[in-house]
This record gives sequence, C-alpha cells and structure tokens, in this order.
Amino acid sequence: MSIDVNLDKATAQVRETGQNPAQRPTIAGFFDEATFTVSYVVHDAETSEAAIIDSVLDYDPASGSTGFGSADRIIEYITSNNLKVTWILETHAHADHLSAAPYLQEKLGGKLAIGADIVRVQEVFGKMFNAGTDFERDGSQFDHLFTDGETFRIGKLEAIALHVPGHTPADMAYLIGDAAFVGDTIFMPDYGTARADFPGGDARQLFHSIRRLLRLPRETRLFLCHDYKAPGRDEYAWETTVGQERDHNVHVRDGVTEDEFVAMRTTRDRTLAMPNLIMPSVQVNMRGGHLPEPEDNGVSYIKIPVNAVRRPA
Ligand SMILES: [Fe+2]
Repeated sequence: MSIDVNLDKATAQVRETGQNPAQRPTIAGFFDEATFTVSYVVHDAETSEAAIIDSVLDYDPASGSTGFGSADRIIEYITSNNLKVTWILETHAHADHLSAAPYLQEKLGGKLAIGADIVRVQEVFGKMFNAGTDFERDGSQFDHLFTDGETFRIGKLEAIALHVPGHTPADMAYLIGDAAFVGDTIFMPDYGTARADFPGGDARQLFHSIRRLLRLPRETRLFLCHDYKAPGRDEYAWETTVGQERDHNVHVRDGVTEDEFVAMRTTRDRTLAMPNLIMPSVQVNMRGGHLPEPEDNGVSYIKIPVNAVRRPA
C-alpha cells in the first residue's frame, strides 16, 4: 500500500479523540426532505465554537423562488445553544440543492470554505453556463480553499480536510475529532455510494477515495450528506461507522474490487435521472451560493443550457 501521510494524520486524530472523549464534537443533523440532504452543525462543547456543514437554501423551481426555512432552523439551533460560528464548510459544489452559505454567513459570521479544486469545477460549469468574464474561476467567492491534509480547528476540536474526488473533482471530507463528514462519497451501508457521472466525475477515483476513507479506524463515525432510505428501511439515517461500511456497504464493502465497483457504478449511473435542481444548484453553488449577478432590471436569472447534459438511458 502506498504511503499516505495525510491519512496517517487523520488516523492519529481519531485514535487521540478515542482516548480523550472531551475532544469528541457535538453534532446535530438537519434533514431536508425536499432534497434528501443532511446539513450539520458541529461544535466544541468547551468553547461553543461551531462549524456548519452543507447548508440548504430552499428553492422552488416552478416559481423560481428561494426560501430560508431550512437555514433558519440552523440559525435557531445556533442561537438557542449560544454557539459562535467560525466555519461554514461545503464538502463540494452540490448539484441537487442550493447552498445557504451566504445567508448564514451574513447572519452568523464564519469563514466559508470548500476544496481547492473548486476552481476546476468553476472552469467546467463556467463554460457550460457560458458565464461571463465577471464570473471569477479562481475560488475567490470563498474565504478559504482547503487542500488535502490541511488541519484546522473548531474551538479546541482538531480537524483535518481530506480530498476525496470522484463524485466531483473537488469533493472534500472533513474529519473533526472522531467524526468524518464525508459529503457525497459513501452513503448508508444498505444504500451504497454517490453517483460519479456529473461533469468531472470519475467512478475509479471515487472508489479510491472511498477505500481511502475506509482505512480510517473502524470506530470512526461517518456522517453522510444524503439519505434516500433503502429497500427494507423506512426511516432516514445518516450516521454510520467505518466498520459498518467495510462489513456491509452494498457497493464497496471489503472484497469488492475496483473493476467490479466501476462496472456497477457506471451501469447504474446511466439509468439515473439528473437531480431536479441540478441547473439552479450548480449555477448558484459555483458562485459560493450567490445568485448570478442581477441583470439591468435588477432580477437574477437561472439559465438552462439545452441539450448540454445527457438524459438517462
Ligand atoms: Fe453532490
């Protein structure tokens, strides 16, 4: 196995947290049933510093109107627990929901961060949506761009960012204490894994990213970005462990080979419809959650490129 210094650092962090339970983060999940997304607030009980991960801006595609119900639930939780937001984290530029990061940042503060390869995503989608030169493709819409292995803190909690591409080129997982927020890589064991067919996605890369995460200690807690229930399970769930995934994940449990995974993932992805909100999500999220610049009448428009994205087989 090749040397992976950053994963070793992450492993040491989980072990250290295990010996020192005061370093375990306090975690609240907020499920948005309209997009099957889980947003999280993670905080340090000692200092009350908090991070918000993968927030949701409500969006009604028929009317083109946004709403703040989901984000306000997070604000309510932060306020009633007297938390101080220091980070607003995105695991990636989501294609199925709009981010509420700018709204939350305005109300609560905190630094907005995403993976450094967002610039590649901005390049691809900037072209697809023919965004003008006013759309900067350098990640400057974010306050911080994380690289693989970069460490940071939430109060006294230790955290490390891991680059886990495949679903998109820029996906990051954030390991905070003993809890990994894995974005769209792996889902619950009975559901499997994220799709890898968006522009810039790669099933082979996704396999490597997931297997990398699964080399963390078995007790590592995993918090997922989505859940869609699963055959035989009628309740939403978004927390599992590395051990559970290694033993039971229907797509990538121990023993499944890279080629088997890639064949399964590619075949399955060909049958999946695009997410309802892919067009508005991508245009807004590539801008760090900001709507496109208003036109001269003061109105912001979402574009739909015709025949730019394939239909499911
Ligand atoms: Fe996603």
